[in-house]
Amino acid sequence: MMDAENKKVRVAAVADIHVTDTDKNKWAEYFKEVSRKADVLLICGDLTNTGDESEAQVLCDELKSCTIPVVAVLGNHDYEKGRQKLIRQTLQNEQVHILDGEAVVIEGVGFAGVKGFGGGFDNYMLSMFGEDAMKAFVQEAVDEALHLDRALARIDQQHEHLKKIAILHYAPMLETVIGEPEPIFPFLGSSRLAEPLIRRQVAAVFHGHAHMGTLEGTLTGGVKVFNVAKPVLLKAGYEVPFYIMEI
Ligand SMILES: [Fe+2]
Ligand SMILES: [Fe+2]
Repeated sequence: MMDAENKKVRVAAVADIHVTDTDKNKWAEYFKEVSRKADVLLICGDLTNTGDESEAQVLCDELKSCTIPVVAVLGNHDYEKGRQKLIRQTLQNEQVHILDGEAVVIEGVGFAGVKGFGGGFDNYMLSMFGEDAMKAFVQEAVDEALHLDRALARIDQQHEHLKKIAILHYAPMLETVIGEPEPIFPFLGSSRLAEPLIRRQVAAVFHGHAHMGTLEGTLTGGVKVFNVAKPVLLKAGYEVPFYIMEI
């Protein structure tokens, strides 16, 4: 048990892979390479391009080349056709964990995941005010933050000293969306997601969604945030787009 706790775990992370029906055989080499370099792979949402279960099936077939555990959250694209449950069912097996307010422990590290939502950042964060539609928009981000907090709490309750990693699709901070057009910042994430991450002292946060954002950011208290959207990694010079972190 001591050995397992002290061993370094190599975590690979990517987001926004947007798998399409024509992606057959295009991902196998990628997953083989990740499996050689890491002990666990995180995919932070937008697994499919149009939210169709046929795309999830292509990804599922490609993942047969992946020999390490996979932890993922869904993204807004995976919700596009209202088939997110089917997508989850298609992908979920003993090797692939799709988290939506849940947590899983792999190799002595706790992973908590939610999709997250928009609403904006810091002083410009949308508040619970006005029309019902506006309140519902804010409520979605509040709920996602609560689910994230609960998932992190579950790791703490079960295993007191485990390191925790959070997986989101939407950004929990402004810093990692910089590079996107400023008018769409409120749709890229919400500061509401940051509060549980800071309070529960996660070791790192991975997200995507902001394809033109910035790779690294730091929350209050030193919590590291990584926007691992595939286009961000490619732009940062990663030839095979996955970020590696040892924990
Ligand atoms: Fe995306
Ligand atoms: Fe997205």
